Amino acid sequence: MKWITRTAATLGAITLLVLGTTAATPAATQTNQGTHHSPQIEKDVFGTTPDGTRIDRYTLTNGRGMRVRIITYGGIIQSIETPDRHGRTANIALGFGSLDDYLTKNSPYFGCIVGRYANRIAKGRFTLDGVNYQLAVNNGENHLHGGNVGFDKRVWRAREVREPGAVGLRLTYVSPAGEENYPGTLSAAVTYRLTVHNEIRVDYHATTDAPTIVNLTNHTYFNLAGEGTGTIYDHKLMLNASRYTPVDSTLIPTGSLDPVAGTPMDFRHPTAIGARIRDNFQQLLFGQGYDHNFVLDRRDDTSLALAARVSDPASGRTVTMRTKEPGIQFYSGNFLDGTLVGTGGHIYRQGDGFALETQHFPDSPNHPSFPSTVLRPGEVYQTATVYQFGTTH
Ligand code: GLA
Repeated sequence: MKWITRTAATLGAITLLVLGTTAATPAATQTNQGTHHSPQIEKDVFGTTPDGTRIDRYTLTNGRGMRVRIITYGGIIQSIETPDRHGRTANIALGFGSLDDYLTKNSPYFGCIVGRYANRIAKGRFTLDGVNYQLAVNNGENHLHGGNVGFDKRVWRAREVREPGAVGLRLTYVSPAGEENYPGTLSAAVTYRLTVHNEIRVDYHATTDAPTIVNLTNHTYFNLAGEGTGTIYDHKLMLNASRYTPVDSTLIPTGSLDPVAGTPMDFRHPTAIGARIRDNFQQLLFGQGYDHNFVLDRRDDTSLALAARVSDPASGRTVTMRTKEPGIQFYSGNFLDGTLVGTGGHIYRQGDGFALETQHFPDSPNHPSFPSTVLRPGEVYQTATVYQFGTTH
């Protein structure tokens, strides 16, 4: 239970972190970058599902040039607008312009909350306390991203969060026992915050009434030049990971933690995503590009540690990610195949976006040596990831 935190100390640390980003902000302050306004949050109706459920869209602005849109369907981050090095704004998150597209176009998990179990479980099978469970097999022979109707396709209840220095949205969803064949009623809460420091902070929280497994993440695809502008192969990626979990041909970890040194998996120094993506390296053939879990180099199990940094030389936009998770899935948009039209009206083709999904390792329930993803009654699943946006010259 190494990675499931439940101590008062952790709660205290989170409170401090939140307070740290919420230093009193005057309503409008003048700086050399122009007028800053307080963060705002607004709601409108994004659409209605076939069963008549209204889906709301929340627009969060931070008064520092960022605007983030989140919908209650799937807890999806629909868009992230950030300025480039010249102050020009673009939407850097792949997605759709309408609810109808999210409902009918077989979204490859654009921007959503993934659960109960992010990434794959071999053949959809696991054993917990001697009981065998069979989950949906929805990705070749394996279970992927929570099954046929995962958290990405559920409607989340939303509550606005207003704090000095941040606005946010607290999304909650109660997954009944047996949903998608997972045991235990899982009460999940995901809080998104947009801060005046140009951060999106995501806090995950879950409890259960019976032993279960849980692994939550967010599946935003980024293109720092703007969604729909082409591939992300020129983006430079740094991953704070000396090891990764190699996979078999069905993308299930073999169980070993291999060094990245001397392979195209080595992103310890910023390297263009496309520089080695066509190398004749077995793992890249299996993934049709990068689709691998990297084992983050961390000093402890609980702090927000540096995980990744990506920069786009053309626009100058950067994103730095910190997380409490032990791993991160780097996916180079390999399965985007030109069949979807994104928010801005352009077709998404292979490599037009990348995802960095902070997580416990894929198939952990079948690998006792991996950090545990088991959650038991009385315990609190608690984790967080922070995306900090900026620019370089
Ligand atoms: C994750 C998986 C990929 C793929 C994408 C969505 O990144 O690891 O294999 O399923 O989600 O298409």
